[in-house]
Amino acid sequence: MTDADTDAITAYWDAAAPAFDDEPDHGLRDETTRQAWARLLRRWTPPGPARVLDVGCGTGSLSHLLAQAGHRVTGVDLSPRMVEEARAKLTAAGLEGRFLVGDAAAPPTGDDLFDVVVCRHLLWTLPDPHAALRQWTARLRPGGTLLLVEGRWREAGQSGIPYVAGAETLPWHRGITAGELTAAVRPLATDVRVDDLGDDPDLWGGPVTDERYALIART
Ligand SMILES: C[S@@+](CC[C@H](N)C(=O)[O-])C[C@H]1O[C@@H](n2cnc3c(N)ncnc32)[C@H](O)[C@@H]1O
Repeated sequence: MTDADTDAITAYWDAAAPAFDDEPDHGLRDETTRQAWARLLRRWTPPGPARVLDVGCGTGSLSHLLAQAGHRVTGVDLSPRMVEEARAKLTAAGLEGRFLVGDAAAPPTGDDLFDVVVCRHLLWTLPDPHAALRQWTARLRPGGTLLLVEGRWREAGQSGIPYVAGAETLPWHRGITAGELTAAVRPLATDVRVDDLGDDPDLWGGPVTDERYALIART
């Protein structure tokens, strides 16, 4: 248990939703940034139309790129306003996607199995990230891909707005190093590798100094 309350986390992200895409790596509005992420997603995902679950999908920027690449995307987010933004983004682009309000730690997708589970920048705010990792690998078909885009943050949020009360009790609230996340995923997957993302300013809209990476694992 942590002291961070789910209702407070939902309220925080509902309030953040309208301006969330103003950050270059959130909205991916710049062509260079968008192409940098699209290239990586192509490298990390299977070529054919895959069933992809985007947990903590936010405004759906990665879902958008994945749908554009021909994948069948389901996004799940705790924040109804984030889900509205994600739906609107795909509709405006003439793309299909299924977006559900729910807890990423127990995605409301029934018995569905996925070829890929994607998660970018969510683990730090989960009360029990180990349980979530177990849930996500259980939702993958055998041979499926778990794709975690994560980091270990040096500084507090760029917005300067404090996160919810009790956030410091969240186990990974400062982010998680690639080494620690690899150790957490290895018992759940057969093949785990890490791609460093810290040295490509195109991904973030400028240079970054903290640890950023993607962990790619197969079940
Ligand atoms: C930093 S944002 C990342 C959004 C998106 N993955 C991206 O990379 O643009 C974190 C997102 O996780 C969502 N979130 C936080 N806790 C969650 C939970 N327990 N279940 C589902 N979504 C959650 C927030 O509403 C927010 O949209």
